[in-house]
Amino acid sequence: MCGIVGAVAQRNIVPVLVQGLRRLEYRGYDSCGVAVIVDGVARCARSVSRVADLEQKILDSQLLGETGIAHTRWATHGAPVTHNAHPIFSHETIALVHNGIIENHEILREGLCENGYKFVTQTDSEVIAHLIYSVYKNDLFAAVRAAVKQLHGAYAIAVFSTDQPHLVCCARGGSPLVVGLGKSENFLASDALALAGSTNRLIFLKEGDVVELTLDRVRIADCNGDLVQRQVHTVNTYSSAVELGPYQHFMHKEIFEQPRAISDTIAHIDAFDPELFGAGARDVFNKIDSLLILACGTSYYSGLTAKYWLESIAKIPTQVEIASEYRYRDSVPNHRSLVVVISQSGETADTLAGLKHANELGHLHTMAICNVEGSAIVRLTALRFLTHAGTEIGVASTKAFTTQLVALFVLSVTLEWLRGHADSSLLAQHLKQLRHLPAALNSVLSLEPQIIAWAEEFSSKENVLFLGRGMHYPIALEGALKLKETSYIHAEAYPAGELKHGPLALVTEAMPVVTVAPNDMLLEKLKSNIQEVRARGGQLYVFADADTRIVNDEGLHVIRMPEHYGLLSPILHVVPLQLLAYHTACARGTDVDKPRNLAKSVTVE
Ligand code: F6R
Repeated sequence: MCGIVGAVAQRNIVPVLVQGLRRLEYRGYDSCGVAVIVDGVARCARSVSRVADLEQKILDSQLLGETGIAHTRWATHGAPVTHNAHPIFSHETIALVHNGIIENHEILREGLCENGYKFVTQTDSEVIAHLIYSVYKNDLFAAVRAAVKQLHGAYAIAVFSTDQPHLVCCARGGSPLVVGLGKSENFLASDALALAGSTNRLIFLKEGDVVELTLDRVRIADCNGDLVQRQVHTVNTYSSAVELGPYQHFMHKEIFEQPRAISDTIAHIDAFDPELFGAGARDVFNKIDSLLILACGTSYYSGLTAKYWLESIAKIPTQVEIASEYRYRDSVPNHRSLVVVISQSGETADTLAGLKHANELGHLHTMAICNVEGSAIVRLTALRFLTHAGTEIGVASTKAFTTQLVALFVLSVTLEWLRGHADSSLLAQHLKQLRHLPAALNSVLSLEPQIIAWAEEFSSKENVLFLGRGMHYPIALEGALKLKETSYIHAEAYPAGELKHGPLALVTEAMPVVTVAPNDMLLEKLKSNIQEVRARGGQLYVFADADTRIVNDEGLHVIRMPEHYGLLSPILHVVPLQLLAYHTACARGTDVDKPRNLAKSVTVE
């Protein structure tokens, strides 16, 4: 959600700050701002519109500077209005940007007010600026270290003081921060992506780190206040993640990256070894009698799909719950259950809170399936499987979903084997299928021209119904979510058997009905559901496997999937639904990568 960039250099640093903000735009924000030191005075530009608007304001006011901090803000405390946009000041001396939420801001504010501090914003962040000012004695590094000790909650901050030019401090406590090392210049950001092009030499800060950056030095104090050295990583992959290449949108690029993302996710798998999930996993897997999966949005749908695998092949009872519901209801903990949290970002507030709630209830075994190493969710779980989707920039999740499914399939087969339901030839068969998946996905991606033709028709619709059965029901849910969030067309998904219990009343010529039709044991049932729709004049759009004998007819439009893929079929069937959503959104001219009102990482409740 919020984003931070900062820099000290001997050149005008404003374009670097603005480019960094552009790279963080995908995370979602509702205001943005930048502050620099000019001749010992802080100058600032803010916007409650897009970064492009901020850039124009910077041009108009000829804002230049060699030391600066910048921010994209997602409003939590205080409306998204100009005076709440960061950077935030104390006494025109301290400038600060902040990601996260300060839980004890009210009590801190009261204390500061009693000491004569005046507040001009409604943000929780302003208390940090004043706290730093209150202990500042010409040593910003010392002041930041003293001030953060008083904060409860989550923060990543970057700060400068107008009387210490060419110096910026930052601190990490619960929200990520990275330092970038340059030649006689140094940088910081909340996401390494923001620094792509400026430097590839990165230090990923640890919890409690406070850092001072000058032109030629970076000093880091750890959570105990001791000066420490941190490992410098050379990371070259970020620049390609932020380049669109031949694509117009990141969502399109990321859909087409799926064969590569899956190859990378399974590259190290030669056998279904429990240790793939971390040291000690075998022991845990042997103790558990059930799974409790917690997640939100698309990640929740990957959990729903996995339930079919876990119960049918590993024969282990599995409950899947939306994290924001689980955290607030009374539930009965089962100490022999493995709690699995699924998250692309690893920072989703509800999923994180669900995990903490499970821990508080006394759950003993936790595992993360996550795309971001070192994220909060990964740090809080004993076991983990990292997907290797690479940075996902489009707000609508695509490659993260299919790689999560791969991870969950590997988990299902591992448990199937450990629980005595698979012999070595079945395991070899599963492994072969997994390895062929990237090639199978490439064949599905080649259906794009046919899907574009359907998308043109869909672009004038206001409602779409998605149907699926069995493990393809969650795929129908995911197809509906992709369509609604990117094209703003109202879409709903039902298990096809539920049609006659209500949604059939909606079926008219005006509402397309998209159906996922794999050649599985439910095919004949699904065909009956298709006839129910046709008999009422509905228009069916079916993604049908070979040998289903579902063919084009009046009111029945069929795209033939290249091959039937057995248990892994959901991973293939979701891809045309992603493409359908993407091209429908393009035809309607929406902001595909940054749909209205949505953010990439939902780090607030
Ligand atoms: C939809 C989408 C969201 C996320 C959800 C959870 O396309 O991306 O529904 O899946 O916000 O996010 P993560 O997986 O980061 O926890």
